[in-house]
Amino acid sequence: MKNNRRDFIKLTGMAGLGISGAGMIESCSSGTEGKKEPSLDQLSKEMEKSHVQRFNMSGYAAPKIETVGVGIIGLGNRGPGHMKNLSRIEGVEIKALCDIQPEKAERAKKMLEGSGHNPIIYTGNEDEWKKLCEQEDIDLVIIVSPWYMHAKMAVYAMEHGKHAASEVALAASLEECWQVVETAERTRKHCMMMANYCYNSFELMILNMARQGFFGDIVHGEGGYIANKIRNNFSKDKYWDMWWLKQYANRKGNIYPIHGFEIICQMMDINRGDKLGHLVAVESEDFIMGKKAKELAAGDDFYKEFADKDFRGNINTSLIKTSKGRTIVVQHDASTYRPYTLKHEIYGMEASVQGYPRPSRIYKREGGYVSPEEYKSLEEKYKPNILKKKSLFGQESGSEFGSDLLMMWRLIDCLHNGLPLDMDVYDGVSMSSVLPLSEWSVNNGSHPIEIPDFTAGAWETNKRNMDINLEKGGNTRLKLG
Ligand SMILES: NC(=O)c1ccc[n+]([C@@H]2O[C@H](COP(=O)([O-])OP(=O)(O)OC[C@H]3O[C@@H](n4cnc5c(N)ncnc54)[C@H](O)[C@@H]3O)[C@@H](O)[C@H]2O)c1
Repeated sequence: MKNNRRDFIKLTGMAGLGISGAGMIESCSSGTEGKKEPSLDQLSKEMEKSHVQRFNMSGYAAPKIETVGVGIIGLGNRGPGHMKNLSRIEGVEIKALCDIQPEKAERAKKMLEGSGHNPIIYTGNEDEWKKLCEQEDIDLVIIVSPWYMHAKMAVYAMEHGKHAASEVALAASLEECWQVVETAERTRKHCMMMANYCYNSFELMILNMARQGFFGDIVHGEGGYIANKIRNNFSKDKYWDMWWLKQYANRKGNIYPIHGFEIICQMMDINRGDKLGHLVAVESEDFIMGKKAKELAAGDDFYKEFADKDFRGNINTSLIKTSKGRTIVVQHDASTYRPYTLKHEIYGMEASVQGYPRPSRIYKREGGYVSPEEYKSLEEKYKPNILKKKSLFGQESGSEFGSDLLMMWRLIDCLHNGLPLDMDVYDGVSMSSVLPLSEWSVNNGSHPIEIPDFTAGAWETNKRNMDINLEKGGNTRLKLG
């Protein structure tokens, strides 16, 4: 068992040990020499045991908000897209923007010229985002900073009376997961992880198929984020402060258990009928990133800080067994040379689906792979109402209507109508917890570890939340043009 101390600190985020901006440990007093440290799986169980659910946020509907005042933190690559989408939705006022880099915040504000939105700008130091969360006329804080900052920002936003919607992932340590849950339950504020891939047409269709029983009982699912990001991660200016490269250089495990995983959880009714049970993670060595860092550092001092790092292995594969006995593979690979895939594979008693490579394929117990013609008719048959709405919006506005806009529209629509959100705090943290848990498993010889039940037992009776047939709401309008 190596690195126990390190994992203990990361898993618990213990006060006083100092987690730095890059999510790394700055200092760690080793305590009494020779004293045995508690094992991580025990600590995790203790955290779970000490949590009492004050209020079940699953199915929770906050009071209606007629005009949603929005503040956005983080306006790098991803933030401006969310801002533009929000500016297209009726009943939204963008009240504030925050980025530590003044030019990013100003550039974003400029994009809003002529739109009727006139946000206050917060910028220049790393805690300015707190002022945004404190601003009175804001109802919803959209968090688009690097992922290791999301939990603290979401917690602060909720503490100041705001709903929070965070980019992926929602939390980077188990302690953060619990903090987010505890805060949401105490403040009764929504905290949603914006799992945008759940709003793609294919994913919405297969979710509908799963709910209508097309696959029969689902036995196994595979999801992941497999995309070569070497060029981006080593670029000097793609991401703020080289934050992604720092994560790969300093952590282990599945540091992005996102994109392919969310729809699998929805299809398996995780947190509402089933739950993630335990996890085992296996990771390859790093054959690529460390070598590249050394090569770059030889000719450019900028990369020196990365030259001797013990980079995360290239491929992390985490295997989860659910409480109902099903299995899920979640994989992350951002450095080998293979085609982009989120996998999106579901295997059931009656049929299965393989999302990648495109075109996606459906296989039936009777008849094998369906023909392209049958695939098309299944697409029509299992198109949920939210996709019909999306087509309608596309026709009305005559412009591109992507899954990010659909997700944002649905989030605002739920707030306007006082409806439960499509994804709740338990969804966000249970998926995000794969990050610290897989890291621990990798650092401990792939030992299994329990995935906490963040719902405190409510998963057995919680109702489904993604209302893909728009049984309620759906009346929020888009601005045309
Ligand atoms: N869902 C998706 O499809 C998707 C796609 C890309 C990125 N993401 C997520 O979006 C988030 C942002 O990614 P990105 O590619 O835009 O990264 P980025 O580095 O381009 O942007 C992050 C921004 O946060 C700002 N920032 C850093 N510290 C701050 C602070 N203390 N206060 C205010 N602003 C601060 C930076 O200046 C930067 O502009 C990440 O969490 C990432 O995981 C999601």
